[in-house]
Amino acid sequence: MIKVVAPMAGITNSVFLNNVIPYGFDVATLGGYSLDAPTIEASKKIVARGRKEFDFPLEEIFSHIESEVASIKKVHSDVKVSANVRATTPQPIIDVGNIKNLDIVEINCHCRQNEIVDVGCGQEMLKRDDLGNYISQVVDNVNCEVSVKIRANVDGINTLDIAHIIDDAGADYLHVDAMKKGVFDADYNLLREICNNVQIQVIGNNSVNSILNAHKMIETGVSGFSIARGVISGNLDFDISDF
Ligand SMILES: Cc1cc2nc3c(=O)[nH]c(=O)nc-3n(C[C@H](O)[C@H](O)[C@H](O)COP(=O)(O)O)c2cc1C
Repeated sequence: MIKVVAPMAGITNSVFLNNVIPYGFDVATLGGYSLDAPTIEASKKIVARGRKEFDFPLEEIFSHIESEVASIKKVHSDVKVSANVRATTPQPIIDVGNIKNLDIVEINCHCRQNEIVDVGCGQEMLKRDDLGNYISQVVDNVNCEVSVKIRANVDGINTLDIAHIIDDAGADYLHVDAMKKGVFDADYNLLREICNNVQIQVIGNNSVNSILNAHKMIETGVSGFSIARGVISGNLDFDISDF
């Protein structure tokens, strides 16, 4: 079972990740980072309204990620480092994917902050007619693995259709925030349906905050699970390395 620290903008930097990796994680995710002018402008607006967010200028972002990857690898050489990124076009994501020692570049098709959605990124990516082509351009031009993080149950979007598009585009991981409106748990039925219908490795996410929920997640057939809020809270009632 692959255990992943999920991205949390403004929080999951190398210092944070180096502290939590020893709890038993196999993959540590940096970011989310904005990589081009429209998404960087969106990040600035998010910061301006007081939400935590990584906010690096265009001329610094690539060298910043490179140095963050090095800071983790220096301490935890056996852990895979992933970078969760947002851009309106594939090229900046390809550039990050070719950063030395980065193991996984994760295309963010998940963020629901209005500023990011307004420039066509985050969960709005799921509405692009050329989503498959965008992903395969990244897959074909990077030396690392490619993950695509999606939000499930977005209005007007069939999540299973999206899973097929991402599978067919050749990505290595489909990271699914199985959130469902009005439900406190993850949408385990949807995850099970996805796992039964795609070849790609599925990383299940949402509400893995107890041993009960970890078992419910694993029983869907996922190849791994990720944890965000439970990592900050420090209140997990189970040992991640047991899975
Ligand atoms: C403060 C905060 C910031 C987040 N930032 C990102 C992000 O930058 N990129 C992303 O893909 N998901 C982001 N997420 C979503 C988490 O990775 C995760 O999908 C979500 O919190 C559900 O998982 P959980 O129940 O384990 O927290 C963020 C979540 C939180 C709480």
